[in-house]
Amino acid sequence: MENDVLLKVQNLVVHYETHNAVVEAVNNVSFEIRSGQTLGLVGETGAGKTTIALAIMSLLPKYTGKVIQGSIEFDGRDLRQLSPKEMRSIRGHDISMIFQDPMSSLNPVLPVDEQISELIRLHRRCSRAKAAIEAREILKKVGIQPERAGEYPHQFSGGMKQRILVAQAILGDPSLIILDEPTVGLDPRQILEIRDLIRSLRDDHVVLLSSHVLSEVSAVCDYIFILSHGRLVASDTPENLEAQLHAGGALCVSVRATPQEMHLLCDAMLPGIPVEIGAGARAGQTELRFGSVDDTVTEKLFYACAAAKRPILKMEREKASLEEIFLELTDDDHAGPAEQEDDLREEADA
Ligand SMILES: Nc1ncnc2c1ncn2[C@@H]1O[C@H](COP(=O)(O)OP(=O)(O)O)[C@@H](O)[C@H]1O
Ligand SMILES: [Mg+2]
Repeated sequence: MENDVLLKVQNLVVHYETHNAVVEAVNNVSFEIRSGQTLGLVGETGAGKTTIALAIMSLLPKYTGKVIQGSIEFDGRDLRQLSPKEMRSIRGHDISMIFQDPMSSLNPVLPVDEQISELIRLHRRCSRAKAAIEAREILKKVGIQPERAGEYPHQFSGGMKQRILVAQAILGDPSLIILDEPTVGLDPRQILEIRDLIRSLRDDHVVLLSSHVLSEVSAVCDYIFILSHGRLVASDTPENLEAQLHAGGALCVSVRATPQEMHLLCDAMLPGIPVEIGAGARAGQTELRFGSVDDTVTEKLFYACAAAKRPILKMEREKASLEEIFLELTDDDHAGPAEQEDDLREEADA
């Protein structure tokens, strides 16, 4: 089962069509999620994260939101071919989504435990008393203690409201849970608590987590898709993305020397540093290409070439396109998940 594809989205195109405009919200997006995975969808506000989630759930705004093209296969079934009734049964039982704004999914005039037990009774036949007991158990599972279960939504903090939504989402035991920006507006302590909660969901559910902060999803996801302006622009494991993020681009140097001379010079001055050496564009020039190296390498190369009287004609760093995307997407927040978690803990303790 480990490698089974649970959700497969292929060439998805979604538009919003209003009387005077067409918004191309999702543009040819393909991705898949396998059993046992936690997947992150990262993108700036307006990138199309919520639209993708709504398309999967078949909950796009009725008159304006349109799936123009593509397929959404869940557990081998094409969701686009299902009737509204079949889709209702999928929602909640097989896939559940936690929306960005918690209050829109909670009834303000009903105590939380009653809302949960009503939902339990919608899912399966059982007595009121049994549903009430189960509701408290589920709430306890997400960290809401029984003595608070009878309170109203407004009496809970933002982070706790998110937990109540998670309780709602898991009660039908869905195989896929979609969390749409669950940490927006939460304080550092609550963000850490939600992270722990997401980690605890991973054992029993496949999670699709969206966020506009890369480090947010890096901390809990196995694989990340980066979305920008409705397109997937990169996908990789958090480790690889972080590595790219910290590495910077390749260093390209052009020197007036022969390749043999540069091989000798690099072996002597920069032992162990991987470099590709080749003939340059013009006779008498050699091109060197280093992977991601820090400034000490540039400096050593500079002095070595000067000492050997082999002038450097050009030295430039290739643009790391992923890095640029990150800078744009992560809003200057380049801390890795571990560092960021430390920062959050410090802030939470303050
Ligand atoms: N109901 C709507 N009508 C028209 N345009 C919409 C609607 N909802 C979202 N959009 C537009 O679709 C694009 C993607 O939005 P959305 O999926 O909400 O992005 P995200 O969740 O990543 O912030 C944006 O340009 C947004 O303005
Ligand atoms: Mg959104």
